[in-house]
Amino acid sequence: MKKLNDGNQLPALGFGTYKLTGDDGIDSIVSALEAGYRLLDTALNYKNEREVGEAIRRSGIPREEIFVTTKLPGRHHGSDETLLSFEESRMNLGLDYVDLYLIHWPLPRIDKYVETFRAMIKLREEGLVRSVGVSNFTEQYLTRVISETGVTPAVNQIELHPRFPQGHLREFHARHDILTESWSPLARGSDLWTEQIISDIAAAHGVTPTQVVLRWHHQLGAVPIPKSSSPERQRENLDVFGFELSHAEIASISSLESGRLWDGDPETNEEF
Ligand SMILES: NC(=O)c1ccc[n+]([C@@H]2O[C@H](COP(=O)([O-])OP(=O)(O)OC[C@H]3O[C@@H](n4cnc5c(N)ncnc54)[C@H](OP(=O)(O)O)[C@@H]3O)[C@@H](O)[C@H]2O)c1
Repeated sequence: MKKLNDGNQLPALGFGTYKLTGDDGIDSIVSALEAGYRLLDTALNYKNEREVGEAIRRSGIPREEIFVTTKLPGRHHGSDETLLSFEESRMNLGLDYVDLYLIHWPLPRIDKYVETFRAMIKLREEGLVRSVGVSNFTEQYLTRVISETGVTPAVNQIELHPRFPQGHLREFHARHDILTESWSPLARGSDLWTEQIISDIAAAHGVTPTQVVLRWHHQLGAVPIPKSSSPERQRENLDVFGFELSHAEIASISSLESGRLWDGDPETNEEF
């Protein structure tokens, strides 16, 4: 478990649910819970909050043992809009409270992320949200939120994988006690596993290339949230706590940097 700056705890590895929709999606999320995942990552814009809530109920696992994250979409930035959007998410999920509520993208052109974050703080004060955070925020936007609201986001969920290690932003997070969550931690199943550096390290430890990449996240201090529809791969992805990478191995994995997967630059990317 990881301790957040507000005292709450978050599992060291989570389950991403983007694209897991419908009955197949529910089955995949139930199997992830059965495999042992206790952090589920969704968003209003994934159109699967109902599936996430249903999977939690079907799993039979007590609600309080599962850490549920959802995110506020761009079209709902603003004070009243945030309160309404949260209620929509909460109803979709069918839950009394959400563990972590994130602003999905900062949308600097719209310039409402500070008042949006203030409304999230209000939800936290009302006990509807346990922790408040952001996603895709840069150092500049984090600094502004902290100075204007007096509250440091508990989490910043950012694109992070060996192709885009984000050293500078991770250092900023560490200085401000902001937990880093890694989205697309496996670089969306791209060509990463064919990298010789990763397959050599995997062979040396007797693990799979995916496990090497997820262990790399863990040792950087980040919480990865890999998605998989397959029960077998879900179990593989969770089994990364029984070996340790050396500093040299971590550095060589980070040397695979080539840039973002797609044009998800927070300065310009607009998702509503
Ligand atoms: N905040 C944001 O803006 C943002 C943006 C993007 C994503 N996210 C979150 O981050 C989560 C994860 O990111 P992601 O879904 O984009 O990508 P990802 O987790 O990096 O990669 C998922 C892909 O890798 C494959 N895969 C998973 N485990 C594997 C294994 N052991 N061996 C081989 N292939 C494997 C999956 O295929 P199978 O399903 O067939 O196993 C899927 O195609 C999302 O689900 C979402 O919750 C957030």
